[in-house]
Amino acid sequence: MYILGINAYHGDAAAAIVQDGRLIAAAEEERFNRFKHSAGFPEQAIRYCLKEAGIGLEDLDHIGISRDPSAHLHKKILYAATRAASLKRSQIKDRLGNAARVRDLKDELARVFSISKKQLRARFHNIEHHRAHLASCFFVSPFERAALLSIDGFGDFISTMWAVGHGNSIEVLGQVEYPHSTGIVYTATTQFLGFPHYGDEGKIMGLAPYGQPRFIDHFREIIRTEETGQFRLNLDYFRHHSEGVEMTWDHGSPVIGRVYSDEFARLFGSARAQGAPLTDRERDIAASLQLRLEEVAFHILNHLHERTGLTDLGLAGGVAYNSVMNGKILLNTPFKRVYVQPAAGDSGTALGVCYQIYNGVLKCERGEVMEGAYTGPQFSNEEVRAALVKSDLAFERYTDDEITKRAAQDIAAGLVVGWFQGRMEFGPRALGNRSIVADPRRAEMKDILNDRIKKREPFRPFAPSVLEERVGDYFEQTHPAPTMLMVYQIKKERRNEIPAVTHVDGSGRLQTVSRAVNERYYQLISDFAELTGVPVILNTSFNENEPIVCSPEEAIECFRKTKMDVLYLGNFAVRRGD
Ligand SMILES: [Fe+2]
Repeated sequence: MYILGINAYHGDAAAAIVQDGRLIAAAEEERFNRFKHSAGFPEQAIRYCLKEAGIGLEDLDHIGISRDPSAHLHKKILYAATRAASLKRSQIKDRLGNAARVRDLKDELARVFSISKKQLRARFHNIEHHRAHLASCFFVSPFERAALLSIDGFGDFISTMWAVGHGNSIEVLGQVEYPHSTGIVYTATTQFLGFPHYGDEGKIMGLAPYGQPRFIDHFREIIRTEETGQFRLNLDYFRHHSEGVEMTWDHGSPVIGRVYSDEFARLFGSARAQGAPLTDRERDIAASLQLRLEEVAFHILNHLHERTGLTDLGLAGGVAYNSVMNGKILLNTPFKRVYVQPAAGDSGTALGVCYQIYNGVLKCERGEVMEGAYTGPQFSNEEVRAALVKSDLAFERYTDDEITKRAAQDIAAGLVVGWFQGRMEFGPRALGNRSIVADPRRAEMKDILNDRIKKREPFRPFAPSVLEERVGDYFEQTHPAPTMLMVYQIKKERRNEIPAVTHVDGSGRLQTVSRAVNERYYQLISDFAELTGVPVILNTSFNENEPIVCSPEEAIECFRKTKMDVLYLGNFAVRRGD
């Protein structure tokens, strides 16, 4: 039985495919069409999923999308009636157009893939947005029973939903409805601080440790917690509920209109213009926002624990990309184990749709545990070789044993190394298959990477990958973080040893690497440890400022236009200047 799951007409459009409960493939559309956070219809991601499964659209048994136009319909109608007057005609048309497209998925698929609707024998499903998030963090988790939290901006008019998962069922226990949302507060503040792009919230998380939370009382007024895990926004500070905020994606990447209100600007002074110098005010606002998000999240989680009595937690939704918050869950709540969906944001709902259909709707037994995020395209050594020959670059071929040893030597010698191996990652983090790796012992490496390749804001940290069994030697917490979605404190006595991956507050957004999940990457770090005594390497995503590279051609292109020193592709290596 084949099931295709889709996230479409929404940021981070994606597709996933499952065969008899086994996850065959999952990938974001942005990796194929090269528009960051690409919204719209995930045509190429669907093509890739079908190719990986070796089937055609007509062979699918079930097709689902992570939107349900009929979910919470009474609220949507109410919203439309009270707000229609303030929406522009074009806005209303856009929204109705999206809803119609969600309903008419069958037509869209038939049109895009040029087949007749009669040939599509699959049953179609609309899976409500947060149920798809919840399914994504439970049905592929290692837990038989767990508390679940989906927390994000909005989807199907809900911002937050909590539940208990047991076997192949999920029971929803509570939710927070439009217009109240932690994700909206984070997005609004991110915009106010002069970072307007979709997905810029992570930058503010990186900025926060430079500030003091002196505006915490303001944020406690902006977002208030209530009984039974609830919270509410003070709507004076926002405009999404009154004037409506447009989300468009004419050019592929989504664009969101201004969410914060004039009142927000009265509270903090005028907004920072994009590119203006950062002052203490911006740093302190970021610190206060981050602290408040953590307070609200722990408020919900403590309620969820009280309600369920469980100590295992599944976590998803865009706010679950806040790895600083995630890393403090075990310290601030009774939860003992946390499974964060590697594609916690909306792309992961494609995967959630598949499993909500397979386990939740069809009641099939669970069997898949998603330990890594390596569900994307891979390329054979022959394909890599062909791309290299075409590029006219000189290259060498190494054996399996040599390749990690050579790369470890290069890293230890201070070179910036492109590392392209195996299947591409699903979700925003490069986890050792589409990574740029470097020596974490060299304090100057952060500036070198920023100057030569990444061109990122200097306040953003770089992340460490560490051998799983050595985590406790370097970090204050040891709970596994295989998909780089936890930030822990680095032990004080170790910070000087790995300065390039130690953030200003002594933290690190680590990836714990095990041999079972990524053998070649584990071997690379082991070889580096053997040379240097340090079982840690710096890992940043393989891209300049575009989506992470997918194919060997894109890796070669990125190598050419940046000042990377050496590029390892499969068993081949290319050196700058050769
Ligand atoms: Fe979402």
